[in-house]
Amino acid sequence: MKRKLFATRLALAVGLLLIFALFTFLLVSRSNQIAAAKRAQEMQIAREQQTAVVDDFHHRLLESAFALQARRNLIDNPVSPGVVVNKLRPVNPIDYVPAKLAKPEGVPHSGEQMLVPVAASAASQMYQDVRKATGAGFTICSGYRSYSLQKRLYDREVAEFGLAQGEAYVARPGHSEHQLGYAMDIMGDQPENNCALGSAYAATPAGKWVRENAYKYGFILRYQENLQHIVGFAAEEWHWRYVGVDRAKWMHDKGIKTLEELFELPYAPDYAD
Ligand code: DAL
Ligand code: ZN
Repeated sequence: MKRKLFATRLALAVGLLLIFALFTFLLVSRSNQIAAAKRAQEMQIAREQQTAVVDDFHHRLLESAFALQARRNLIDNPVSPGVVVNKLRPVNPIDYVPAKLAKPEGVPHSGEQMLVPVAASAASQMYQDVRKATGAGFTICSGYRSYSLQKRLYDREVAEFGLAQGEAYVARPGHSEHQLGYAMDIMGDQPENNCALGSAYAATPAGKWVRENAYKYGFILRYQENLQHIVGFAAEEWHWRYVGVDRAKWMHDKGIKTLEELFELPYAPDYAD
């Protein structure tokens, strides 16, 4: 009897032990499963984060490449109204000739002064409006100049005034905005058509009107007082550069006087060689 009781108890104990072992086994393997799932999830998150970082990096790389390309198209391309030409930034290509040039309709000019069409029509409109506003207009004394014409002007200026003075006013060939067809030199009405450039026009009512309003037509006064250390040339109150209406307005509103500052380019006080 006693033996039977003992056997029953033993069987019960073994049974309980087995149940306990099974339970423990199930518990351990469940928690292992949970831990493995958690690890897998963490690894997945890490992978996704890494992919996101790489994607973001590629994205930013692409964006900056596009931005760089857009900037190049804007300031290096001679066709762009935002192109910057100065003593450190020659016209590229050096013998560039605009594909199309046009006469500024209705604007008096000395000789055959042409501009690229968008600048020509802006000059035309500005001329009509300054006449309406003040009764006086202006004459275009110089517009597009070829490389070879610029060379003749440069040689003549340097021969007459010496290198320092000559280079303060006339660009070396291949370094003039006139070669782009985006620059015009204007003077007051010129009955004798002699176009001696000077500051007199800027002091007349029409000249003042142009000075105040030219930005609305897309023109900036490219070479202003005391900025030769940036733009490379002495002040020229006659040299108007077409940069496009939005850009000219932006520069006017922000008080930015030079393209070098606008585009954060190196100052160009002199040629590299
Ligand atoms: N007079 C300006 C600087 C030119 O020659 O282009
Ligand atoms: Zn000029």
